[in-house]
Amino acid sequence: MPLNPQILLDNRPTGEAVASNFRLVSSETPALQDGQVLVRHHFLSLDPYMRGRMNDAKSYAAPQPLGEVMQGGTAGEVVESRSPKFQPGDKVVGMGGWQQYSVVNADQPGALRKVDTTHVPLSHYLGAVGMPGVTAWYGLVKIIAPKSGQTVVVSAATGAVGSAFGALAKARGCRAVGIAGGPDKCKYAVDELGFDACIDYKLHKDAASLSKALKEACPDGIDGYFENVGGMVLDAVLPRMNAFGRIALCGMIAGYDGQPLPLSYPALILTNRLKVQGFIVSEHMEVWPEALKELGTLVATGKLRPRESVAQGLESAPEAFLGLLKGRNFGKQLVKLI
Ligand SMILES: NC(=O)c1ccc[n+]([C@@H]2O[C@H](COP(=O)([O-])OP(=O)(O)OC[C@H]3O[C@@H](n4cnc5c(N)ncnc54)[C@H](OP(=O)(O)O)[C@@H]3O)[C@@H](O)[C@H]2O)c1
Repeated sequence: MPLNPQILLDNRPTGEAVASNFRLVSSETPALQDGQVLVRHHFLSLDPYMRGRMNDAKSYAAPQPLGEVMQGGTAGEVVESRSPKFQPGDKVVGMGGWQQYSVVNADQPGALRKVDTTHVPLSHYLGAVGMPGVTAWYGLVKIIAPKSGQTVVVSAATGAVGSAFGALAKARGCRAVGIAGGPDKCKYAVDELGFDACIDYKLHKDAASLSKALKEACPDGIDGYFENVGGMVLDAVLPRMNAFGRIALCGMIAGYDGQPLPLSYPALILTNRLKVQGFIVSEHMEVWPEALKELGTLVATGKLRPRESVAQGLESAPEAFLGLLKGRNFGKQLVKLI
């Protein structure tokens, strides 16, 4: 069996996460038992939720255990199988973690999913046609539930979730407005992702200034907001929300290193009669087939052309992950392992 390079969580961050929280090791891959398959990972998914799991804190999921392989989504190929359900050569996605190989119990429901790479590249199953894409779908379709012609706004608009949100909103006849960091990301949002407008929040020193830009980009107000960031961005959006608007609270990445994210005028939720709903996509497995079908079609037909930031080699994963938390990624952050 092959030697398996792995990245473990070595110690927990105090404040900002740093590269020394992680440790690279190598271990023997155990021999397969009946019902198991050996998967060689081609891509590792880096996702903001991993930062929360590095803390030993109460959350919707258990903390990442110290001294164990960092958990995370993977896309790869079956290289050996002792299960009738999988053959060598099958392309699969699973939760293989930050390592080159994983041994998977193929009978465990949901542990490994075969994917078709005829029209959708393998890596997209970790992004637009995977968990981030379904996240966008759930927040838009089930929480914001827009009518055609309504205005929806998303922060971190060019990221894995935000870019899928844009395509899904346009497919429903909405005016889609993005908020992103920097002129390149905003140009890409409009030119490539089909957003009607995109606001560079880095040009605005405070929420009032950003809110003014939102007023120009959203002349009919905002009916639905998909929140990925929190802080100043949410403060800027709230005054622009229309009565009975919906906010899908998906993420608050600006606070993942432990910074407080105070809300300046929460009374706007009352006066605008807003619905604000947090959600965790893995708790809504019932929508995944429908969402993945739509997202797969959008990608296969070229209506969603997601961009990827690809770091090379397992050893680059910690720095790439820390970069994701600072907005240095441009599109879905992956690590290529082969
Ligand atoms: N609830 C769920 O089930 C669920 C599932 C998946 C993801 N999420 C959440 O969805 C959000 C997006 O995830 P993703 O995978 O698509 O990541 P992503 O958008 O591809 O990457 C993160 C982006 O966040 C922005 N960002 C980082 N730090 C920021 C800060 N301090 N202030 C403002 N923006 C900052 C950066 O974009 P800019 O350069 O444009 O600022 C960065 O590129 C995250 O909050 C994540 O936790 C939630």
